[in-house]
Amino acid sequence: MNALEVEHLTKSFGGVRATNDVSFAVPEGSLTALIGPNGAGKTTLFNLVTNLFRRDGGAVRFFGQDLGDRTPSEIAELGLMRTFQTARVFPGMTALENVMAGAHRKLKRGALAQMLWLPGARAEERRLARRAEALLDLVGLSAFRDIAATSLPMGAQKLIEVCRALLAGPRLLLLDEPAAGLNDTETAELSRLLRAIRDGGITILIVEHNMSLVMDSASQVVVLDLGACIATGTPRQILADPRVIEAYLGPAAEVA
Ligand SMILES: Nc1ncnc2c1ncn2[C@@H]1O[C@H](COP(=O)(O)OP(=O)(O)O)[C@@H](O)[C@H]1O
Ligand SMILES: [Mg+2]
Repeated sequence: MNALEVEHLTKSFGGVRATNDVSFAVPEGSLTALIGPNGAGKTTLFNLVTNLFRRDGGAVRFFGQDLGDRTPSEIAELGLMRTFQTARVFPGMTALENVMAGAHRKLKRGALAQMLWLPGARAEERRLARRAEALLDLVGLSAFRDIAATSLPMGAQKLIEVCRALLAGPRLLLLDEPAAGLNDTETAELSRLLRAIRDGGITILIVEHNMSLVMDSASQVVVLDLGACIATGTPRQILADPRVIEAYLGPAAEVA
């Protein structure tokens, strides 16, 4: 079964074809990397899959279900979660509260029980906090759980955003450049987190420029260039593909 199927997806901004007839599939349980030079259309593709942008043509299926014109929040409800290229943490909330914010809508007790702080709601809140703490621990941030998230470095904010998406219990996680701005230690934490996510059975589609991170962890790589999908394969196949080398280094690289 495929977690995601993108078929003939097309989107233009004015005269620019940001996404040009793109088709690929993300198999369930895979860690698929989406790579390509700046401006290739990677973020646009995420925005189209989550219906943040309206597509000009094509279709997106999530575990076989056509996403049609569902709203972004309906798509999140179905279990397709994403993070943004620029981390979006909530101001005025601690790191822990930020992680927990992802799952509040999933609590079984309603908003009223939460508000009245009924015993069942309290127990559920504690369970959620424990899972949030475990996730922060996994990415090496448990020491900062009570610190305002906005005061943490960008790298930490990005990890918090991944933890938040995870706590919501996704079936597919879209990560837009999660390693950008991370130092070496944080990148190692991220790669540990990615493996844990994958081992937990959650499918991942990740936009990433850090090639060693991609090559170590991805089972499949999809390459975009100028809005078009130019190659799909294993990391090894992709590294040897002349079209990919040309897209990254220019035609001269092939001759040289
Ligand atoms: N909201 C937008 N309005 C106009 N042009 C956009 C918009 N978003 C993206 N683009 C254009 O689409 C192309 C692909 O951009 P993007 O998807 O951000 O690339 P990537 O994430 O691969 O770097 C670029 O030419 C960019 O300028
Ligand atoms: Mg981008």
